[in-house]
Amino acid sequence: MSSMLEFDEAAARSMEAMYMTPDVVGQRARVIDMLCPRPGEHILDVGVGPGLLAHDLARMVGEAGRLVGLDPAPAMLKMARTRLAAMPYAECVEGDAGNLAFADASFHAVVSTQVYEYVAALPKALSELHRVLKPGGRVLILDTDWRSIVWHSSDAKRMERVLAVWDDHLSNPHLPATLGAALRRAGFSVTRVEIVPMLSPHWQPVSYAAGIMRSIRGFVAANCERHGLAAEEVQAWYDDQLRLAERGEFFFSLNRYAFVATR
Ligand SMILES: C[S@@+](CC[C@H](N)C(=O)[O-])C[C@H]1O[C@@H](n2cnc3c(N)ncnc32)[C@H](O)[C@@H]1O
Repeated sequence: MSSMLEFDEAAARSMEAMYMTPDVVGQRARVIDMLCPRPGEHILDVGVGPGLLAHDLARMVGEAGRLVGLDPAPAMLKMARTRLAAMPYAECVEGDAGNLAFADASFHAVVSTQVYEYVAALPKALSELHRVLKPGGRVLILDTDWRSIVWHSSDAKRMERVLAVWDDHLSNPHLPATLGAALRRAGFSVTRVEIVPMLSPHWQPVSYAAGIMRSIRGFVAANCERHGLAAEEVQAWYDDQLRLAERGEFFFSLNRYAFVATR
């Protein structure tokens, strides 16, 4: 049984902080560069989360355009709506990737970062995406493959056990490896695939690595017993990272994969 991450107020706050670190600011710049949003376009952000990307996109489509952020989590919607409040051509709606409440061919582009890995019924969600895009419209999906992680530890076996529990926080921790084929099956042409790394070759307190380390500790501590892992081991794993950081031996690298496709 999987007990996925809950996107409540606490998660929204920690995600917002993590997504303001230079690593994720850089990711957003890459995403915008690959999506090429233009003034006047109608863009949908599936799984809008804290609304940081949606805010940048709304500014780029401008008053002649439209930005819609969709999310099922009330805490995320609240945060995104606050962020977008000054732009009347941007709105956030409650909804699910598996059932998009928009007319056929509503959008010039759809973007979704770190969302489809949480969606269990992927074929249905991608066919919905295809339906709401205009012919020739483009989609950008970015997700993490947790198998790509290179994370130094004094106890490699313990690191493996902790990350095995963390894999349960989403529906598919290895989505990128099959996403291109899934997009093609849904009728898209995949035009570009790029790696977006989250790299901390040394300890940086304000970084994606430091933020995700705290999230992993929280999730794994709450779910460890089902996997036969003691809470003390989770804390020992976390403390080990801090000691490595103090000694100048911290190293973290993880890949996200951005797919651009057209309808
Ligand atoms: C890791 S956050 C990413 C947020 C945002 N896309 C970003 O990159 O800043 C995942 C988001 O996906 C949303 N989400 C989870 N399951 C979803 C689903 N089935 N349909 C749409 N959004 C979903 C969550 O509520 C959360 O806001």
